[in-house]
Amino acid sequence: MNTARLLGLLIALVSLSLCGLQNQPAAGQTNYDESKVPEYALPDPLTMEDGREVTTAQMWCEERRPEVLQLFEEHVYGKSLGPPPALRFEVFEQSEDALDGQAIRKQVRVHFVEEDDGPSMDILIYLPREVEGPVPLFVGLNFYGNHTVHHDPAIRLSDRWMRPNEQFRIVDNRATEASRGRSDRWPLALILSRGYGLATIYCGDLSPDNANRFDQGVIRLFYQAGQTEPEPDQGRTIAAWAWGLSRALDYFETVEAIDHQRVAVMGHSRLGKTALWAGAKDPRFALVISNNSGCGGAALSRRRFGETVQRINTSFPHWFCDNFKQYNQNEDALPVDQHQLIALAAPRPVYVASAEEDRWADPRGEFLAALGADPVYRLLGTEGLAVTEMPPLNEAITSRIGYHIRRGRHAVLQYDWERYLDFADKHLSP
Ligand code: GCU
Repeated sequence: MNTARLLGLLIALVSLSLCGLQNQPAAGQTNYDESKVPEYALPDPLTMEDGREVTTAQMWCEERRPEVLQLFEEHVYGKSLGPPPALRFEVFEQSEDALDGQAIRKQVRVHFVEEDDGPSMDILIYLPREVEGPVPLFVGLNFYGNHTVHHDPAIRLSDRWMRPNEQFRIVDNRATEASRGRSDRWPLALILSRGYGLATIYCGDLSPDNANRFDQGVIRLFYQAGQTEPEPDQGRTIAAWAWGLSRALDYFETVEAIDHQRVAVMGHSRLGKTALWAGAKDPRFALVISNNSGCGGAALSRRRFGETVQRINTSFPHWFCDNFKQYNQNEDALPVDQHQLIALAAPRPVYVASAEEDRWADPRGEFLAALGADPVYRLLGTEGLAVTEMPPLNEAITSRIGYHIRRGRHAVLQYDWERYLDFADKHLSP
């Protein structure tokens, strides 16, 4: 072969391999290009780890579901906290005539130990006043305190540690009077007018959202003598937040005015990841809603689109169990993917919501996870997701697995709540 041909061959070889490389984002870089999503194979939700196929609803419920739940505990969210040393409910404020007569308001401190100064969480509850009988309810954690969800001056101002935030007027890690009503994520009047109650809890009551403080709520209650951090397979912040939602449900079960069999758990973003995990862990939640939950929530990890496992474990090392870090840039080794998290809600109604501009959360990955949960719903004899392609913007799919992608940014908008209320009307009717 002459030199010119050899050179030509070399150039062809180099450009070929460059092409291949160009098709993969460089390690650690955020990929927003659909054509660079790597090929991947999702674990089959209906195949047992030992290779047996899951062919009956009974086999799903008795064998595969517990197996998948355990895999998520061990590799992703960590084992849950145990029963609290004590569980006491102290109603510290209530009114039959709140919000100009529209609502009944209750504020309840849930104590997790006998002592009054131990870890506790405050639940703020509004119930529609004009509705007869026990009412269905949405429950969700909030980011900066119960007093941020409405201007109602009777809401107790949280005195807990908070992350700094200008919009929420958090100064020196504390809420201020100016923090009241700063959140636009809770259209309370709308929710009440549709006949639903709303309950909310500041997530930091359970676990402060900070890598150095996350165990200062309830987590350290469960340490063995001498233990200073959770074991690699023990839950951290998201597990503690989900645990708290179940403790709220423990309380709702004691309140006659609440229909505790019709409680929907809802969360946005990191708290949407939490809502999905809470719904997976605790089948008492009748309906589960994930709003823009993204990586570690509804989005498939294997797609590596937007936020990746490595990014989330680096920015937020306190959210998932330590074992999850083994899957940094190693997503294909995960024994589960997030479609199986959604499947753990089956056959209960579950709603996944994306936002067009929220590419960090990988809307397509969220849709594909919802679709990936479908076979489990079908096996259980319920409708799964009614479509196989992503719907157009602002068109809600309201089958047993619900989905929408709306216009706009990472947020909870009135549009989202209207869809959740419609979805609850359809699937939670008594
Ligand atoms: C960050 C984080 C996301 C999370 C979001 C939020 O963007 O990377 O995973 O969902 O915060 O909770 O608002």
